[in-house]
Amino acid sequence: MPFRFHPGPRDAETRARRGTLETPHGRVETPAFMPVGTRASVTGLTPADVREAGAEVILGNTYHLLLRPGPEAFRALGGIHRFMRWDGPILTDSGGFQIFSLSHDRVITEAGARFRSYVDGRPQLLTPESSIAMQTAIGSDVMMVLDVCLPSTAEAAEIRAAMERTHRWALRSLAARTNPEQALFAIVQGGLDPALRAASAGFLTQHPFDGFAIGGLAVGDTRAERGEVVARAAELLPLDRPRYLMGVGTPPDLLEAIGHGVDMFDCILPTTLAWQGTAFTSTGRVRLTRTEHRLSELPLDAACGCDTCRGWSRAYLHHLFKCREPLGPRLVSVHNLRHYLDLMRGARAAIEAGRYGAYQRERLEALDRHEH
Ligand code: GUN
Ligand code: ZN
Repeated sequence: MPFRFHPGPRDAETRARRGTLETPHGRVETPAFMPVGTRASVTGLTPADVREAGAEVILGNTYHLLLRPGPEAFRALGGIHRFMRWDGPILTDSGGFQIFSLSHDRVITEAGARFRSYVDGRPQLLTPESSIAMQTAIGSDVMMVLDVCLPSTAEAAEIRAAMERTHRWALRSLAARTNPEQALFAIVQGGLDPALRAASAGFLTQHPFDGFAIGGLAVGDTRAERGEVVARAAELLPLDRPRYLMGVGTPPDLLEAIGHGVDMFDCILPTTLAWQGTAFTSTGRVRLTRTEHRLSELPLDAACGCDTCRGWSRAYLHHLFKCREPLGPRLVSVHNLRHYLDLMRGARAAIEAGRYGAYQRERLEALDRHEH
């Protein structure tokens, strides 16, 4: 089954919309949240746990998988789905963002990005073509073009040059695709400048990409700045292609972006913060390492139906974190993912009922009531 996107009903009041992605590994209802499984693992969880939390698609990272286990492992072992035993859709990021955020001694030229491997220090070259070749070996359902990422605070001239290079690399990526079953998304860049964002969306949407991402956010920008860029960029993207906001964000960020018409999200927050003992709940963040939870028989979130919330007290979770028991991060990861995925499920139902605006306000008010 080739990749297809079916745009669905639109909300009455906002720009939010329902949709369905069809991929070679099954369907995804949108708006969708993709748990991050950087190294072919959603840290500490099995594919069954991730599925049980409500995920339909997960994200992997080309940058990490290229260095370890490497393309030959995926070729020899029959691709990522079989390797990690997640049989649903997988989207792979191209490496553009990781080169920017993680690599040392990087040199970016028109050819591609040179950097040193964090595994063994050996020099590596990632080009638009080699990123596509790696994503082809991985066998993801959706591939991303290699892009040039910069902090939001970079100089205007630098942001423009990075955007223009991202456009040239996007066309090279399109030409390098060999497997028509694997979808390819382009990435709109252009920093916080509305004119550059419009130029980027205008250029990329003239080419036959299967979807469009909004990149270059949550890299030093404020929530208001992000919201503004997302609102304007989403408006310029075609209705018949999925829109993916990369690496963003908190539940309020997601609620806002859905209201601007974004269909797909990924973010490390629910899984990364779980490992630090921070839970996202319907009434705000709960820091389980705090002494206030030491004798608390309350569930983590009374409004949540996950195994963690149905089975264990805050006191027990507090205890696990105090003793550094690996069960602590695991139980909170299960909950945090469920929380994000329930937020999406609720958004999809609200859009279908034509009341997304009300849903957004209710969820934000529940957070505000408790955080202030
Ligand atoms: N993840 C978060 N932001 C970005 C981005 O701008 N580009 C890519 N490739 N990945 C991202
Ligand atoms: Zn829960």
